[in-house]
Amino acid sequence: MSQRYLTTPIYYASGEPHLGHAYTTVLTDFLARYYRQNGSNVLFLTGTDEHGQKMQDAATENSIKPIELADQMVEKFKIAWNDLNISYDRFIRTTETDHIAVVTTILEDLWEKNQIYKDIYSGWYCKHEERYWTDSDVGPDKVCPDCKRTVGYVEEENYFFRMSNYQEQLIQHIENNPQWIVPETRKNEILGFLAHPLKDLSISRPKSRLRWGITLPFDNDHVCYVWIDALINYVTGSGSFELDKEKDRLSFTAAQKSWWPADLHIIGKDIITTHAVYWPTILMAAGLELPKQILSHGWWIMGDTKMSKSIGNVVDPLALRDHFGTDGIRWYLLRDMPTGDDATYNFKRFSTRYEELANVFGNLASRVTSMIVRYRNGVVPKIGGSGLDTEIQSTLEAVTRDMGNFRIHNALDAAMDLARTANGYIDIQEPWMQAKKTELQNELDDTLATLFRTLTVLNAIFFPIIPEKMTDLAMALGLDGVPTIKEAMSIIPGGHKVSKVGPLFPKIGLDA
Ligand code: MSP
Repeated sequence: MSQRYLTTPIYYASGEPHLGHAYTTVLTDFLARYYRQNGSNVLFLTGTDEHGQKMQDAATENSIKPIELADQMVEKFKIAWNDLNISYDRFIRTTETDHIAVVTTILEDLWEKNQIYKDIYSGWYCKHEERYWTDSDVGPDKVCPDCKRTVGYVEEENYFFRMSNYQEQLIQHIENNPQWIVPETRKNEILGFLAHPLKDLSISRPKSRLRWGITLPFDNDHVCYVWIDALINYVTGSGSFELDKEKDRLSFTAAQKSWWPADLHIIGKDIITTHAVYWPTILMAAGLELPKQILSHGWWIMGDTKMSKSIGNVVDPLALRDHFGTDGIRWYLLRDMPTGDDATYNFKRFSTRYEELANVFGNLASRVTSMIVRYRNGVVPKIGGSGLDTEIQSTLEAVTRDMGNFRIHNALDAAMDLARTANGYIDIQEPWMQAKKTELQNELDDTLATLFRTLTVLNAIFFPIIPEKMTDLAMALGLDGVPTIKEAMSIIPGGHKVSKVGPLFPKIGLDA
């Protein structure tokens, strides 16, 4: 059985989850469910990023300890992911002891290999982004190029990772693996960045300035830079390295069943440099394999800026859930944003997308199940039902192709088109007319069997995006759970006991 290890970024535990975080997580969940459905053994990792200046400051503002703040936020993230039906396998926290052990071991290894040295750092630092910037980055106004906040000047002793040593190796890797960073625009952005000399990377903070972090194994007065700590979560989360009891450290002999390297890191475009430059060079230095692929998506925009807690323009995904339901949110998020590009959040569009679900797919499900109940007492006729086979086949080809290229919005569109086609088929066949004529009973059987087959396939295709409603539909179709696409294709209509499905996507007011 093939295996796939998928990761989301670990979210800062200094704030509550918002729609932007929900997007990345739903996208990863959708892929995880799709791969599982296609027979892969999946490890889906998500979690929280709990160390660093931002956490320390946020906790101080609330007069609590950083770990207390993290505990509160972890609960909120877990509730949100539970409510959005996120099927993660592990929720990792960077304050867990096994993670601290992995970070410590990697740092020790790099230190022993002389990949880390001490020097003076002087330059600009943005606390909010937890990033150093150069003079030209911050410009005359001394603002962070990412979040536009005023940056502070720091001059302090730091430890540096010899990132510059890996520049050529990284460029080679990207050029030899054209699909390593998708989409292409992000790959080109990174190659553009690498066209300039790569600097060494500061990987520590003196405890005099920041205490909330993992202590460096070779200097008790410094903590690890939060981004290094955070990136290593992907290795910890793989659970593929064993604790060497004698040394009380992790040993880098992969455990029997190894999940490392990750197959896919799913991240927003804001954190592409850390994932496509810092991370692979650290792994190269540590002698660990690189992740196989990085998928970088765009931003949800509110007005004309990125939706972000600090700007104060965030949308709470759970408030939307009260209105559109879990599956309504999942559908909107992945259907409305072309994977890789930005999209503007808009409540009206949300409603339009929801109506598409209700009027096309929901309507098809209720028409088909109620006709089988009305005309055949709920029993699916035993007859070929191949009236839409060509359309089913071409839809499956389109979905497979689009999923392979991460054109997820196109895959969903293709699936919805099949539902549209099936509705059109009902209008052409007019089963209500067939039902009236004794000589058309065979035709009616075939119409109903065709629709049953199509709905069964749609049940499978739609499962990864709207799992809750597809579980209800599978029951109404008399199936033993939601089928995989392969299973759905091999179901022969006949004898299934169908019951009328209620409105899968009930009508809602538009004035929320
Ligand atoms: N803690 C770091 C990531 C460390 S990963 C080793 C971090 N956390 S974050 O809380 O700021 O969340 C970052 C991720 O949330 C982004 O990369 C992106 O995937 C998602 N998003 C946050 N705001 C977003 C939008 N407005 N739109 C889309 N995704 C957004 O960075």
